[in-house]
Amino acid sequence: MEPSEKYMFKHKGSYFVRDLATPEHIDSLEEFEIRDSDVFVVTFPKSGTLWTQQILSLIYHEGHRNGTEDTDLHDRVPWLEYNVFNKDYANWPSPRLFASHLPYHLMPKGLRNGKAKVIYVARNPKDVLVSYYYFSKLSLKHEEIEDFEILMERFLAGKVQGDLWLDHVEGWTAQRDHLDILFLMYEEMKKDLKSSVLKISNFLGKSLTEKIVDDIVDKASFDKMRMDHRVNSKDASSAILDQSKGIFLRKGTTGDWKNIMTVAQSERFDSVFRKRMEKLPFKFCWDINDVPREKPF
Ligand code: A3P
Repeated sequence: MEPSEKYMFKHKGSYFVRDLATPEHIDSLEEFEIRDSDVFVVTFPKSGTLWTQQILSLIYHEGHRNGTEDTDLHDRVPWLEYNVFNKDYANWPSPRLFASHLPYHLMPKGLRNGKAKVIYVARNPKDVLVSYYYFSKLSLKHEEIEDFEILMERFLAGKVQGDLWLDHVEGWTAQRDHLDILFLMYEEMKKDLKSSVLKISNFLGKSLTEKIVDDIVDKASFDKMRMDHRVNSKDASSAILDQSKGIFLRKGTTGDWKNIMTVAQSERFDSVFRKRMEKLPFKFCWDINDVPREKPF
């Protein structure tokens, strides 16, 4: 079954949320001028984007860290392709921080030519799917699919926002020698957030004091993010989220797929994804007790 056109449109081979982007805007991104100082968080949807946006914002904005500025996280680290408030990104002061779900080939030319820094976060795809399933109940901009198996089949066919998970991850990891890019896994952030914050700050060339690092780790914890109104989407417009249907910061764990997928569904998932996943430079964690590590590239 094709995704409902009420919620998504297809452009240049990719699916976009209908009410939040236009084909013209997506086209304009090809020539969008990239600066060396730009930083992008890139993910497949539901892989820990907000979490990484929060870490970036805390690293760059002292006013966010010490609570003196009451700015929504989405204004600190806005979406490149979903510029819903028509912000004038071209005239924003540096350093600009952006989030994006775009596949590599739809990114602005300047980025593809090696400008800017990219932090790519990957999460095990079964938890991505489960998170997407619950998110589409909460989000009024996504088609709610009651039957998990139907959504799973769409996910395995790449007929969801972000397209085919495998294509997204492969497309970005193929650029690892060409771009200034840091790969992180959701599961490693979960296991050891402090090391991940240090990895990110080192990658960005920021030397932070121990106290600041600890403060960032604290404010980027699941519990603190859930309580922080600048972050937790509780103030989001009722036209975008139906807060009676769920919560954006839902569970924040590894292995939740086991609570919803049947053995047969999990096997079906593996039969479609396993071969290509084995070639990816990540050893994914499927359970909270697994130890994440990157395979050597
Ligand atoms: P769950 O639905 O599994 O809870 P994205 O921002 O890419 O849409 O990803 C959303 C997922 O990241 C949600 O997963 C959300 O709970 C999780 N997440 C956000 N902040 C987190 C944090 N500080 N720690 C752990 N998970 C977090």
